[in-house]
Amino acid sequence: MLRMAHPMMHHRTPQFSAIFSETKAMLEKVFQTRNDALMLASSGSGAMEAAVTNLCSPGDTIIYVNGGKFGERWGKIAAKHGVNVVEIKVEWGHAVSVDAVREALEAHPHARGVFVQASETSTTTEHPIREIAALTRSLPKCALVVDAITALGVIDMPMDAWGLDVVISGSQKAFMLPPGLAMIALSEKAWALTEEAKCPRFYFDLAVERKNQQRGKDTTAWTPAASLIIGLNEVLKMMFEEGLDELYARHALLARAARAGVKALGMELVSKAPATSATGAYVPEGIDGGAFVKYLRDVMGVTFAGGQDHLKGKIVRIAHLGYYDAFDITTAMSAIEMALGKFGHPVNMGAGVAAAQDVLLERFPKA
Ligand SMILES: Cc1ncc(COP(=O)(O)O)c(C=O)c1O
Repeated sequence: MLRMAHPMMHHRTPQFSAIFSETKAMLEKVFQTRNDALMLASSGSGAMEAAVTNLCSPGDTIIYVNGGKFGERWGKIAAKHGVNVVEIKVEWGHAVSVDAVREALEAHPHARGVFVQASETSTTTEHPIREIAALTRSLPKCALVVDAITALGVIDMPMDAWGLDVVISGSQKAFMLPPGLAMIALSEKAWALTEEAKCPRFYFDLAVERKNQQRGKDTTAWTPAASLIIGLNEVLKMMFEEGLDELYARHALLARAARAGVKALGMELVSKAPATSATGAYVPEGIDGGAFVKYLRDVMGVTFAGGQDHLKGKIVRIAHLGYYDAFDITTAMSAIEMALGKFGHPVNMGAGVAAAQDVLLERFPKA
Protein backbone atom coordinates (compact mmCIF):
# COMPACT_ATOMS: atom_id res chain seq x y z
CA MET A 1 0.00 0.00 0.00
CA LEU A 2 2.83 2.33 -0.83
CA ARG A 3 0.44 4.61 -2.65
CA MET A 4 -0.79 5.83 0.71
CA ALA A 5 2.76 6.88 1.58
CA HIS A 6 2.97 9.40 -1.26
CA PRO A 7 3.06 13.06 -0.23
CA MET A 8 -0.43 13.99 0.96
CA MET A 9 -2.77 15.45 -1.62
CA HIS A 10 -5.16 18.22 -0.63
CA HIS A 11 -8.65 16.76 -0.55
CA ARG A 12 -10.42 19.80 -2.05
CA THR A 13 -8.64 19.60 -5.39
CA PRO A 14 -9.59 18.34 -8.84
CA GLN A 15 -6.78 15.78 -8.47
CA PHE A 16 -8.33 14.22 -5.38
CA SER A 17 -11.84 14.46 -6.82
CA ALA A 18 -10.70 12.46 -9.85
CA ILE A 19 -9.41 9.69 -7.57
CA PHE A 20 -12.56 9.91 -5.44
CA SER A 21 -14.84 9.59 -8.43
CA GLU A 22 -12.96 6.63 -9.90
CA THR A 23 -12.85 4.90 -6.51
CA LYS A 24 -16.57 5.39 -5.91
CA ALA A 25 -17.48 3.99 -9.32
CA MET A 26 -15.39 0.88 -8.67
CA LEU A 27 -16.82 0.53 -5.17
CA GLU A 28 -20.35 0.57 -6.58
CA LYS A 29 -19.40 -2.38 -8.76
CA VAL A 30 -18.36 -4.33 -5.67
CA PHE A 31 -21.62 -3.40 -3.94
CA GLN A 32 -23.32 -4.30 -7.23
CA THR A 33 -25.55 -1.26 -7.07
CA ARG A 34 -26.52 1.56 -9.38
CA ASN A 35 -26.98 3.77 -6.31
CA ASP A 36 -24.26 5.74 -4.56
CA ALA A 37 -21.75 3.91 -2.40
CA LEU A 38 -20.79 6.55 0.16
CA MET A 39 -17.49 6.70 1.99
CA LEU A 40 -17.47 7.85 5.62
CA ALA A 41 -14.48 8.68 7.78
CA SER A 42 -15.22 6.20 10.56
CA SER A 43 -14.93 2.55 11.40
CA GLY A 44 -17.74 0.22 10.39
CA SER A 45 -19.75 0.85 13.55
CA GLY A 46 -20.16 4.50 12.50
CA ALA A 47 -21.95 3.34 9.36
CA MET A 48 -24.07 0.97 11.47
CA GLU A 49 -25.17 3.92 13.59
CA ALA A 50 -25.75 5.98 10.44
CA ALA A 51 -28.08 3.26 9.14
CA VAL A 52 -30.17 3.46 12.30
CA THR A 53 -30.33 7.26 12.55
CA ASN A 54 -30.98 7.82 8.84
CA LEU A 55 -33.79 5.27 8.59
CA CYS A 56 -35.56 5.59 11.92
CA SER A 57 -37.37 8.02 14.17
CA PRO A 58 -37.50 7.73 17.95
CA GLY A 59 -40.44 5.48 18.80
CA ASP A 60 -40.13 3.44 15.59
CA THR A 61 -39.67 -0.29 15.84
CA ILE A 62 -36.96 -2.34 14.20
CA ILE A 63 -36.30 -6.06 14.07
CA TYR A 64 -32.72 -7.17 14.54
CA VAL A 65 -30.92 -10.47 14.46
CA ASN A 66 -28.77 -11.06 17.50
CA GLY A 67 -26.59 -14.06 16.83
CA GLY A 68 -23.34 -12.65 18.15
CA LYS A 69 -21.40 -9.58 19.24
CA PHE A 70 -22.15 -7.56 16.13
CA GLY A 71 -25.80 -8.48 15.94
CA GLU A 72 -26.12 -7.40 19.54
CA ARG A 73 -24.69 -4.01 18.53
CA TRP A 74 -27.75 -3.22 16.38
CA GLY A 75 -29.90 -3.43 19.49
CA LYS A 76 -27.57 -1.23 21.52
CA ILE A 77 -27.40 1.46 18.83
CA ALA A 78 -31.15 1.50 18.26
CA ALA A 79 -31.94 1.67 21.98
CA LYS A 80 -29.61 4.69 22.39
CA HIS A 81 -31.66 6.51 19.76
CA GLY A 82 -35.01 5.72 21.36
CA VAL A 83 -35.90 3.17 18.69
CA ASN A 84 -37.84 0.14 19.92
CA VAL A 85 -36.21 -3.16 19.21
CA VAL A 86 -37.59 -6.59 18.48
CA GLU A 87 -34.76 -9.02 19.01
CA ILE A 88 -34.50 -12.30 17.16
CA LYS A 89 -32.14 -14.12 19.44
CA VAL A 90 -30.13 -16.76 17.67
CA GLU A 91 -27.92 -19.29 19.38
CA TRP A 92 -24.30 -18.35 18.74
CA GLY A 93 -22.93 -20.30 15.82
CA HIS A 94 -26.32 -20.71 14.17
CA ALA A 95 -27.75 -18.80 11.23
CA VAL A 96 -31.06 -17.05 11.80
CA SER A 97 -34.01 -19.04 10.53
CA VAL A 98 -35.91 -17.33 7.75
CA ASP A 99 -39.15 -18.40 9.46
CA ALA A 100 -38.16 -16.48 12.59
CA VAL A 101 -37.71 -13.34 10.49
CA ARG A 102 -41.03 -13.95 8.72
CA GLU A 103 -42.82 -14.37 12.05
CA ALA A 104 -41.24 -11.20 13.44
CA LEU A 105 -42.34 -9.27 10.36
CA GLU A 106 -45.86 -10.61 10.68
CA ALA A 107 -45.98 -9.72 14.37
CA HIS A 108 -44.56 -6.23 13.72
CA PRO A 109 -45.95 -5.11 10.37
CA HIS A 110 -44.82 -1.52 10.96
CA ALA A 111 -41.18 -2.40 11.55
CA ARG A 112 -38.90 0.09 9.80
CA GLY A 113 -36.30 -2.50 9.05
CA VAL A 114 -34.65 -5.83 9.58
CA PHE A 115 -31.05 -5.35 10.72
CA VAL A 116 -28.70 -8.28 10.29
CA GLN A 117 -25.09 -9.31 9.65
CA ALA A 118 -24.23 -11.05 6.38
CA SER A 119 -21.30 -12.55 8.22
CA GLU A 120 -21.38 -12.50 12.04
CA THR A 121 -17.65 -12.36 12.64
CA SER A 122 -17.80 -13.18 16.35
CA THR A 123 -19.24 -16.63 15.64
CA THR A 124 -17.91 -16.99 12.04
CA THR A 125 -21.46 -17.54 10.79
CA GLU A 126 -23.30 -16.43 7.64
CA HIS A 127 -26.96 -15.46 7.80
CA PRO A 128 -29.28 -16.16 4.82
CA ILE A 129 -29.41 -12.64 3.41
CA ARG A 130 -30.91 -13.47 0.05
CA GLU A 131 -33.82 -15.34 1.65
CA ILE A 132 -34.45 -12.53 4.15
CA ALA A 133 -34.41 -10.02 1.30
CA ALA A 134 -37.14 -12.03 -0.40
CA LEU A 135 -39.33 -11.23 2.63
CA THR A 136 -38.54 -7.50 2.96
CA ARG A 137 -38.51 -6.68 -0.74
CA SER A 138 -42.25 -6.32 -1.06
CA LEU A 139 -42.61 -4.23 2.12
CA PRO A 140 -42.42 -0.58 1.04
CA LYS A 141 -41.63 0.81 4.50
CA CYS A 142 -39.35 -1.90 5.81
CA ALA A 143 -35.67 -1.85 4.84
CA LEU A 144 -33.26 -4.74 4.98
CA VAL A 145 -30.06 -3.40 6.54
CA VAL A 146 -27.06 -5.63 6.06
CA ASP A 147 -23.81 -5.29 7.95
CA ALA A 148 -21.49 -6.76 5.34
CA ILE A 149 -18.29 -5.71 7.06
CA THR A 150 -16.80 -9.20 6.66
CA ALA A 151 -18.90 -10.17 3.63
CA LEU A 152 -18.58 -7.50 0.96
CA GLY A 153 -15.69 -8.43 -1.29
CA VAL A 154 -15.75 -11.95 0.19
CA ILE A 155 -19.00 -13.45 -1.06
CA ASP A 156 -21.16 -12.58 -4.05
CA MET A 157 -23.96 -10.47 -2.58
CA PRO A 158 -25.50 -8.39 -5.38
CA MET A 159 -27.21 -5.54 -3.59
CA ASP A 160 -29.69 -4.45 -6.27
CA ALA A 161 -30.44 -7.90 -7.65
CA TRP A 162 -31.25 -9.32 -4.23
CA GLY A 163 -33.11 -6.22 -3.04
CA LEU A 164 -30.85 -5.25 -0.15
CA ASP A 165 -31.69 -1.78 1.12
CA VAL A 166 -28.59 -0.82 3.08
CA VAL A 167 -25.21 -2.48 2.78
CA ILE A 168 -22.29 -1.53 5.01
CA SER A 169 -18.63 -2.35 4.88
CA GLY A 170 -15.31 -1.18 6.27
CA SER A 171 -11.78 -0.69 5.05
CA GLN A 172 -9.96 -3.10 7.32
CA LYS A 173 -11.44 -6.41 6.20
CA ALA A 174 -11.78 -7.57 2.59
CA PHE A 175 -10.59 -4.15 1.41
CA MET A 176 -7.19 -4.86 2.95
CA LEU A 177 -6.61 -1.33 4.25
CA PRO A 178 -5.91 0.17 7.64
CA PRO A 179 -9.07 0.85 9.70
CA GLY A 180 -10.89 4.19 9.46
CA LEU A 181 -13.06 4.14 6.36
CA ALA A 182 -16.64 2.91 6.27
CA MET A 183 -18.72 2.43 3.15
CA ILE A 184 -22.49 2.42 2.91
CA ALA A 185 -24.97 2.20 0.05
CA LEU A 186 -28.75 2.68 0.17
CA SER A 187 -31.49 1.51 -2.18
CA GLU A 188 -34.17 3.88 -3.52
CA LYS A 189 -36.52 2.49 -0.86
CA ALA A 190 -34.00 3.25 1.88
CA TRP A 191 -33.43 6.77 0.56
CA ALA A 192 -37.18 7.37 0.66
CA LEU A 193 -37.25 6.22 4.28
CA THR A 194 -34.44 8.66 5.17
CA GLU A 195 -36.77 11.53 4.28
CA GLU A 196 -39.18 10.49 7.04
CA ALA A 197 -36.57 9.51 9.61
CA LYS A 198 -36.29 11.95 12.51
CA CYS A 199 -33.43 10.59 14.59
CA PRO A 200 -31.00 13.47 15.14
CA ARG A 201 -27.92 13.23 12.95
CA PHE A 202 -25.25 15.63 11.86
CA TYR A 203 -21.89 14.04 11.03
CA PHE A 204 -23.58 10.95 9.63
CA ASP A 205 -26.37 12.69 7.72
CA LEU A 206 -26.31 10.51 4.63
CA ALA A 207 -28.42 12.86 2.51
CA VAL A 208 -25.78 15.56 3.02
CA GLU A 209 -23.07 13.06 2.12
CA ARG A 210 -24.93 11.98 -0.99
CA LYS A 211 -25.23 15.57 -2.16
CA ASN A 212 -21.48 15.99 -1.86
CA GLN A 213 -20.37 12.56 -3.03
CA GLN A 214 -22.64 12.31 -6.08
CA ARG A 215 -21.04 12.14 -9.48
CA GLY A 216 -19.96 15.56 -10.65
CA LYS A 217 -19.46 16.86 -7.09
CA ASP A 218 -16.99 14.11 -6.13
CA THR A 219 -16.20 15.40 -2.68
CA THR A 220 -17.26 14.70 0.89
CA ALA A 221 -19.24 16.77 3.37
CA TRP A 222 -16.44 16.62 5.92
CA THR A 223 -12.72 16.05 5.61
CA PRO A 224 -12.39 12.58 4.09
CA ALA A 225 -10.04 9.80 5.15
CA ALA A 226 -8.08 10.83 2.08
CA SER A 227 -5.17 8.43 2.34
CA LEU A 228 -7.53 5.51 2.85
CA ILE A 229 -9.54 6.51 -0.22
CA ILE A 230 -6.33 6.69 -2.22
CA GLY A 231 -5.43 3.23 -0.87
CA LEU A 232 -8.92 1.97 -1.70
CA ASN A 233 -8.46 3.13 -5.28
CA GLU A 234 -5.43 0.85 -5.55
CA VAL A 235 -7.08 -2.06 -3.72
CA LEU A 236 -10.15 -1.96 -5.95
CA LYS A 237 -7.94 -2.09 -9.02
CA MET A 238 -6.27 -5.18 -7.54
CA MET A 239 -9.67 -6.74 -6.86
CA PHE A 240 -10.83 -6.13 -10.44
CA GLU A 241 -7.54 -7.38 -11.81
CA GLU A 242 -8.14 -10.65 -9.99
CA GLY A 243 -11.79 -10.58 -11.12
CA LEU A 244 -14.69 -10.60 -8.68
CA ASP A 245 -15.75 -14.15 -9.53
CA GLU A 246 -12.21 -15.39 -9.02
CA LEU A 247 -11.99 -13.44 -5.78
CA TYR A 248 -15.19 -15.02 -4.43
CA ALA A 249 -13.96 -18.45 -5.54
CA ARG A 250 -10.61 -17.92 -3.78
CA HIS A 251 -12.33 -16.96 -0.55
CA ALA A 252 -14.66 -19.96 -0.75
CA LEU A 253 -11.74 -22.30 -1.36
CA LEU A 254 -9.68 -20.91 1.54
CA ALA A 255 -12.68 -21.27 3.83
CA ARG A 256 -13.15 -24.89 2.75
CA ALA A 257 -9.46 -25.59 3.32
CA ALA A 258 -9.48 -24.02 6.79
CA ARG A 259 -12.55 -26.04 7.77
CA ALA A 260 -11.00 -29.26 6.48
CA GLY A 261 -7.78 -28.50 8.36
CA VAL A 262 -9.28 -27.90 11.77
CA LYS A 263 -11.65 -30.85 11.42
CA ALA A 264 -8.69 -33.11 10.61
CA LEU A 265 -7.18 -32.01 13.91
CA GLY A 266 -10.33 -33.12 15.70
CA MET A 267 -11.46 -29.56 16.40
CA GLU A 268 -15.16 -28.82 16.18
CA LEU A 269 -16.38 -25.88 14.11
CA VAL A 270 -18.10 -23.11 16.05
CA SER A 271 -20.60 -22.49 13.28
CA LYS A 272 -23.33 -24.61 11.77
CA ALA A 273 -23.38 -22.16 8.83
CA PRO A 274 -19.68 -21.35 8.56
CA ALA A 275 -18.59 -18.02 7.15
CA THR A 276 -16.41 -17.53 4.10
CA SER A 277 -14.41 -14.76 5.79
CA ALA A 278 -13.15 -16.64 8.85
CA THR A 279 -13.32 -20.06 10.46
CA GLY A 280 -13.91 -20.55 14.16
CA ALA A 281 -13.05 -23.80 15.92
CA TYR A 282 -13.24 -24.89 19.56
CA VAL A 283 -9.85 -25.45 21.14
CA PRO A 284 -9.60 -28.91 22.71
CA GLU A 285 -10.95 -29.37 26.25
CA GLY A 286 -8.37 -28.45 28.86
CA ILE A 287 -6.61 -25.80 26.75
CA ASP A 288 -7.18 -22.16 27.65
CA GLY A 289 -8.07 -20.61 24.29
CA GLY A 290 -6.89 -17.17 25.41
CA ALA A 291 -3.43 -18.48 26.29
CA PHE A 292 -3.43 -20.53 23.06
CA VAL A 293 -4.08 -17.50 20.84
CA LYS A 294 -1.56 -15.43 22.81
CA TYR A 295 1.09 -18.16 22.40
CA LEU A 296 0.41 -18.38 18.67
CA ARG A 297 0.75 -14.62 18.30
CA ASP A 298 3.52 -13.71 20.73
CA VAL A 299 5.70 -16.83 20.64
CA MET A 300 5.07 -18.26 17.17
CA GLY A 301 4.36 -14.99 15.36
CA VAL A 302 1.09 -16.08 13.74
CA THR A 303 -1.98 -14.00 14.53
CA PHE A 304 -5.42 -15.49 15.19
CA ALA A 305 -8.45 -14.16 17.02
CA GLY A 306 -9.94 -15.71 20.11
CA GLY A 307 -13.54 -15.76 21.25
CA GLN A 308 -15.73 -13.07 22.80
CA ASP A 309 -18.21 -13.22 25.67
CA HIS A 310 -19.15 -16.82 26.46
CA LEU A 311 -16.84 -18.07 23.70
CA LYS A 312 -13.88 -16.30 25.35
CA GLY A 313 -11.09 -18.77 26.02
CA LYS A 314 -12.91 -21.50 24.10
CA ILE A 315 -12.27 -20.86 20.43
CA VAL A 316 -9.71 -19.81 17.88
CA ARG A 317 -10.71 -17.88 14.76
CA ILE A 318 -8.71 -18.09 11.55
CA ALA A 319 -9.18 -15.21 9.13
CA HIS A 320 -9.10 -15.89 5.40
CA LEU A 321 -10.19 -12.75 3.61
CA GLY A 322 -8.48 -10.00 1.69
CA TYR A 323 -4.83 -10.72 1.01
CA TYR A 324 -5.07 -14.31 2.23
CA ASP A 325 -4.10 -17.09 -0.08
CA ALA A 326 -3.28 -20.79 -0.01
CA PHE A 327 -0.07 -20.61 1.96
CA ASP A 328 -1.56 -18.42 4.65
CA ILE A 329 -3.90 -21.32 5.37
CA THR A 330 -1.13 -23.92 5.47
CA THR A 331 0.87 -21.63 7.78
CA ALA A 332 -2.15 -21.20 10.03
CA MET A 333 -2.74 -24.95 10.19
CA SER A 334 0.89 -25.70 10.82
CA ALA A 335 1.03 -23.14 13.64
CA ILE A 336 -2.14 -24.54 15.24
CA GLU A 337 -0.77 -28.09 15.12
CA MET A 338 2.55 -27.08 16.64
CA ALA A 339 0.89 -24.97 19.32
CA LEU A 340 -1.47 -27.85 20.21
CA GLY A 341 1.64 -29.99 20.69
CA LYS A 342 3.25 -27.34 22.89
CA PHE A 343 0.07 -27.22 24.99
CA GLY A 344 0.44 -30.96 25.57
CA HIS A 345 -2.40 -32.02 23.30
CA PRO A 346 -1.78 -35.24 21.37
CA VAL A 347 -1.64 -34.18 17.74
CA ASN A 348 -0.92 -35.97 14.53
CA MET A 349 1.54 -33.41 13.15
CA GLY A 350 0.77 -32.53 9.56
CA ALA A 351 -2.82 -33.82 9.57
CA GLY A 352 -4.38 -30.34 9.47
CA VAL A 353 -1.93 -29.07 6.88
CA ALA A 354 -2.49 -32.15 4.69
CA ALA A 355 -6.28 -31.84 4.84
CA ALA A 356 -6.04 -28.17 3.91
CA GLN A 357 -3.59 -28.94 1.12
CA ASP A 358 -5.98 -31.46 -0.38
CA VAL A 359 -8.49 -28.66 -0.84
CA LEU A 360 -5.95 -26.00 -1.79
CA LEU A 361 -4.62 -28.12 -4.67
CA GLU A 362 -7.71 -26.98 -6.57
CA ARG A 363 -6.23 -23.48 -6.59
CA PHE A 364 -3.40 -24.47 -8.91
CA PRO A 365 -3.39 -25.79 -12.46
CA LYS A 366 -1.83 -29.07 -13.52
CA ALA A 367 1.91 -28.63 -14.06
C1 LIG B 1 -19.55 -8.08 11.19
C2 LIG B 1 -18.96 -6.88 11.86
N1 LIG B 1 -19.76 -5.85 12.15
C3 LIG B 1 -19.29 -4.74 12.74
C4 LIG B 1 -17.97 -4.63 13.08
C5 LIG B 1 -17.52 -3.41 13.74
O1 LIG B 1 -16.80 -2.67 12.86
P1 LIG B 1 -15.72 -1.61 13.34
O2 LIG B 1 -14.86 -2.33 14.34
O3 LIG B 1 -15.03 -1.28 12.07
O4 LIG B 1 -16.44 -0.49 13.94
C6 LIG B 1 -17.09 -5.68 12.80
C7 LIG B 1 -15.68 -5.59 13.18
O5 LIG B 1 -14.98 -6.57 13.25
C8 LIG B 1 -17.60 -6.84 12.18
O6 LIG B 1 -16.81 -7.87 11.88
